[in-house]
Amino acid sequence: MARVLLEASGLYLSFKGVKALVDVNFKVAEGDLFAVIGPNGAGKTSLLNVLSGLYRPQQGQVVFLGEDLAGQTPQQRVRKGLGRTFQNLELFRGMTVLDNVKLGAELATGGYTDLTPQTRIEWKIRRQAEEVLDYLHLAPYRHVPAGALPYGLQKRVEVARALAGRPQLLLLDEPMAGLSLEEKQDLARFLLDARREWNTTLVLVEHDLKAVLELSTGVLVMSYGEVLYHGLPSGVRENQRVAEAYLGRSA
Ligand SMILES: Nc1ncnc2c1ncn2[C@@H]1O[C@H](COP(=O)(O)OP(=O)(O)OP(=O)(O)O)[C@@H](O)[C@H]1O
Ligand SMILES: [Mg+2]
Repeated sequence: MARVLLEASGLYLSFKGVKALVDVNFKVAEGDLFAVIGPNGAGKTSLLNVLSGLYRPQQGQVVFLGEDLAGQTPQQRVRKGLGRTFQNLELFRGMTVLDNVKLGAELATGGYTDLTPQTRIEWKIRRQAEEVLDYLHLAPYRHVPAGALPYGLQKRVEVARALAGRPQLLLLDEPMAGLSLEEKQDLARFLLDARREWNTTLVLVEHDLKAVLELSTGVLVMSYGEVLYHGLPSGVRENQRVAEAYLGRSA
C-alpha cells in the first residue's frame, strides 16, 4: 500500500443554512490521481478551499503528511507541499508568464526570507520556473503578459504556476473546464508527465465524469455536499446512488 498523504475526516461546512460539505471523508495516497466529481454546487470547490485553508470547516479534520492542518494558513500549507490551482484563473494578467510562474515557485520555497544566500534562492526559483515552462510547452510565451494569452494557455499557466512550487500534492480545480478536446488531452498528458517526473500526487476536481474515469486511481463523487461514492473508478458506474443522482440526470 502506498503511503497516505492526505486524509480528510468528518468535514462539515455550511454557509447560512446551505450545506456545502456534509460528513466528507476520504484518503489520498502517494502517486494517486484522485478525482473529485460532481454537478454544479456539489461542494467540490468548497472542499478544495477547506483543504487549502481558505475556508475553515465547522467540523472535521484535514491531515497532510501526518500533521493536522487546523489553524495553518494557506501560505503555510503551500510551503508544506500542498499546492492548488483556482477554478477562476487567479493569474496576474499584467505580469509575464515567467513572472507568474516564478511567483508560484517563490511562494512555495518561502521566498527570500530563508537563511540560504539570496542568489541561490533566485537561481532555484528561476530554474524551477523555466523547467516547468519547458515541460508544459509554455517556453515560447514566457515574456508575454499572462492576460494576453488565449484562455486555454492561461489555464495551462495556472497549472504551471502551481507546479513550479513542486508540490507533493496538487489540488486542481477544474483545470480542463472550457478547453477544447485537444487542449484537454494535452493538459491531461502534461499532468500525467508531471506526476511521473516530480512525483506529484494529484487531486483533480472535474465536472465531467467521463473525462477523468480513465485517468484516475481513486474517485470521490459528491452531490449537495454529500459523498455519494468513494472508491475505485471501476465501481462508479454500477453505484446506485451515483446513477440516480448524477448519471441519471446527464443521460
Ligand atoms: N463563500 C461562499 N458563500 C456562500 N455560499 C457558498 C460559498 N462557497 C460556496 N457556497 C455554496 O456552497 C455550495 C457548494 O458550492 P461549491 O462552489 O463548492 O460547488 P462546486 O461543486 O465547486 O460547483 P461548480 O461545479 O459550479 O464549481 C453551493 O450551494 C454554493 O452556493
Ligand atoms: Mg467549483
